[in-house]
Amino acid sequence: MRQRLAVGNWKMNGLQSDLREIAALSDVAKSADCKVVICPPATLIHAASHISDAIAIGGQTCHEMPSGAHTGDISAQMLADCGAQYVILGHSERRQDHCETDQIVHDQTQMAWDAGLIAIICIGENLEDNKAGQTLQIIGQQLAASVPNQATAENLVIAYEPIWAIGTGLIPTLEEIHNIHSFIRAELIKRFEKITGQSIRILYGGSMNAKNVSDILAVSNVDGGLVGGASLKAVDFSKIIAAVG
Ligand code: PGA
Repeated sequence: MRQRLAVGNWKMNGLQSDLREIAALSDVAKSADCKVVICPPATLIHAASHISDAIAIGGQTCHEMPSGAHTGDISAQMLADCGAQYVILGHSERRQDHCETDQIVHDQTQMAWDAGLIAIICIGENLEDNKAGQTLQIIGQQLAASVPNQATAENLVIAYEPIWAIGTGLIPTLEEIHNIHSFIRAELIKRFEKITGQSIRILYGGSMNAKNVSDILAVSNVDGGLVGGASLKAVDFSKIIAAVG
């Protein structure tokens, strides 16, 4: 049985005063039958990690080198040092805004694992590729090149996030989500030992909210959600956590 995950990606949102949103999730996280993870901006990780035993904290990226002359960047070890247990890698906003390639995501993942972090690797097609019927080819390539060979069910989570669904209110049909998650599952089983391939969690991300979460979670091989906008307020995210768990 794969333990489900409800992951909140706060992106570039959140000040000290917003830590109360994490505190307000503590009870629902304690009673939920899923793992709850919040990925706040790096400035809040340390404080956030002390709020609740039931809520794990993650970073939103890390550098592909362990340390050095990289002004403004953050290393995997720094994330772990200030209390993170997870890190989102290869989010489409990082791939676009910071030119992160599959190879960079692969190398960041190695760093995350060296620091003892669980990597949540994001893959997903843009609208053009989707319209051209290239979705499986694109995500197959991203999966093959972004995920290092040492993946296990303990150190890796995959998040399927169609770029056109992020922050737009649009989501793929449930049939499309089913087909794509089944494809990712089959690729993981093909590449890794069967038990590992079957045990790695696959999240759906992109405009997930309290209204659509139950339908999406009912699709096979959807093991939870990576949630942006609807994770910022406890009142919204607690409904998603309750549905996931
Ligand atoms: P969204 O973002 O839920 O606001 O669409 C999801 C994500 O980018 O991880």
